[in-house]
Amino acid sequence: MEAQDVEFVSRVVAEGFFYSLEHVVGKSRLGCMGWALRTSRLGTAECFVDKVCVATEYRGRGIGKALVERAETAARERGCTCKISLLFLHLLAYGHEMPQKHVQYSCTLHLLGALVAFARGRITPLRKSGTPGTEPGPLQIRNMEEQDVDFVGRMLVETFSDKFEHAVGKSRMEGAVQQNTKMYGRSKDVWHRYLVAVYEGRPAGVMALKFHGETTEVDFQCGEACSYLGCCGTCGLFWLGAYTENVNIRAGQCYLDHIGVDADFRGKGIGKILLDRADFEARQRECKSIFLWVKQSNRAVRLYERQGYVVTHPFGGCFARCTTGSSEWYNMEKQL
Ligand SMILES: CC(C)(COP(=O)(O)OP(=O)(O)OC[C@H]1O[C@@H](n2cnc3c(N)ncnc32)[C@H](O)[C@@H]1OP(=O)(O)O)[C@@H](O)C(=O)NCCC(=O)NCCS
Repeated sequence: MEAQDVEFVSRVVAEGFFYSLEHVVGKSRLGCMGWALRTSRLGTAECFVDKVCVATEYRGRGIGKALVERAETAARERGCTCKISLLFLHLLAYGHEMPQKHVQYSCTLHLLGALVAFARGRITPLRKSGTPGTEPGPLQIRNMEEQDVDFVGRMLVETFSDKFEHAVGKSRMEGAVQQNTKMYGRSKDVWHRYLVAVYEGRPAGVMALKFHGETTEVDFQCGEACSYLGCCGTCGLFWLGAYTENVNIRAGQCYLDHIGVDADFRGKGIGKILLDRADFEARQRECKSIFLWVKQSNRAVRLYERQGYVVTHPFGGCFARCTTGSSEWYNMEKQL
């Protein structure tokens, strides 16, 4: 959709539907379509087609079908593997499995079909312009508070256990948790950077975002670290920080510093909603892009790709291996 299409889209949508359009796919000015990707509770990627409508004067020429096929292509490109749910199809036709092609598309809003589909939990409404992680439901995302210090301290060590093990040694992992917790407890200046995901009342995940010009760092104290980790462990941790904190964040960029979901809560879509929230926060700060570092072998790369991140360049080398334990990293970035 382009600026020149606003009037047309408003008219066509108003003709056919009662609610507002979130996003329009397709350059054709003959029809329009809103769509969104979501992750189901099982973690399978689905695409939800929001509005398919064709101007009355052009109906019956296969334009609606072409738009829905375009949605299928876009959904596949985004890694959707499951189904496309269409709100507006006749009752028996919704829940179209992507490989099949026999669904009769209809541009008519079928309210009954929509209600039944909602009731069966087959489709989920688009998240409108609200803040991801604040809608009613089991998951809430909020800023870090005093009560989260223990959780954040432990989560960051457990989530990045491979890096921590490399830095401090396997036998000192519990010491690393203690040291991290102490450090976050007194580093109130950085709490605003951390968002905590709470699932059914229990802290389940954490994410940190950093913006251009932010220089405040956690209050790392060598003496304290030594008492928990010994000299070698402290030295390892110091160099790990020296490498991972040396990130150049340009104006208009947001850096996704950490993201982790507790192992008990993985695969429920929490990571995805945290990433949606990261996009939202970055846009609020008028960022044009958001980026992160991830180990090339990390399964999370798939999640980032589904969310629209692309690998801008691989990096690593000897210093990366010495400090983080891996020499193969990706810089991934998403345009907002
Ligand atoms: C990556 C992570 C934050 C995703 O959170 P989540 O709530 O499990 O994510 P969702 O349910 O929204 O999405 C599932 C996707 O998460 C990723 N994922 C799931 N378990 C994972 C794990 N143990 N390690 C890494 N990524 C994982 C996968 O990409 C998965 O998609 P797939 O099933 O197609 O492979 C979470 O799994 C995690 O904390 N992993 C360990 C820490 C980590 O690797 N963080 C990223 C560092 S850059």
